[in-house]
Amino acid sequence: MEFQNILFEINDKVAIVKINRPKKLNALNEATLLELKEVFTGIKNNDDIYVAILTGEGEKAFVAGADINELNRLDSISAKKFSEFGQGVFNLIENLGKPVIAAVNGFALGGGCELALACHFRIASENAKFGQPEVNLGIIPGYGGTQRLAKQINSGRAAQLILTGEMIDAGEAYRIGLVNKVYKPDELMDKALQIANVIVSKGQIAVRYALQAVVASNNLSISQGLNLEASLFALTTGTEDFKEGTSAFLEKRKPGFKGK
Ligand code: COA
Repeated sequence: MEFQNILFEINDKVAIVKINRPKKLNALNEATLLELKEVFTGIKNNDDIYVAILTGEGEKAFVAGADINELNRLDSISAKKFSEFGQGVFNLIENLGKPVIAAVNGFALGGGCELALACHFRIASENAKFGQPEVNLGIIPGYGGTQRLAKQINSGRAAQLILTGEMIDAGEAYRIGLVNKVYKPDELMDKALQIANVIVSKGQIAVRYALQAVVASNNLSISQGLNLEASLFALTTGTEDFKEGTSAFLEKRKPGFKGK
């Protein structure tokens, strides 16, 4: 796959997607969103890819938001389409069926913070900065921030971030549960790959069902979620990986999962 605004590589079973507009701090214009849609559709359909890592090119930014040049031209008709299109791309990532790790390597503002939130979890470099500065522009988050941030941290903290437009550093993002761990900038991608490879080493049917249940928990009541969990748990016991995993434990050896 060839792209203008995205770098894409496959490292064994791990896809690495880099937003590549470093001179514009990787701001998301329409062309980049279209390419994100294409690259993640490709990842979804490629059975040889088990996990994806999303990051930004350059040392300064993950994504510094939606492209303000394009925002500036919106009216209330085109803005609805703009918001729904971006939400659709981010929903594709959240519902990819494979884990997507955000490796946040700098500014993750506005649409950048929302993009990181659409990933299944986030790690960050020490120089990462997060925020929803839309109120500074006279708008509100439009790519899912009002919903996902409130669910990921808590609604009080989300409200403060969204209402003040305040930027927080990686340490604060860690304290409030927005990122799982903070690393030195030059270690971030190695750590992301290490985490991805741990996931790759597991039974992939179990990984995908577990992810499905966790993602579904955002939209289900506890009883609906537990029901789904029981059904998916039951399905995993019909796999070769289940027999292999339990037998390997009992035989005191490493399992060799086949994703079957
Ligand atoms: N949309 C379009 N262009 C953007 C952008 C965005 N969201 N964020 C940064 N850029 C561009 C700048 O216009 C500048 O382009 P130029 O060199 O052609 O003038 C370039 O990226 C570098 O940004 P600059 O502002 O010079 O870097 P900085 O280090 O001084 O500041 C930020 C970094 C992130 C604080 C600042 O760029 C910023 O506030 N960006 C907007 C963040 C935002 O509001 N995002 C939410 C949008 S909904």
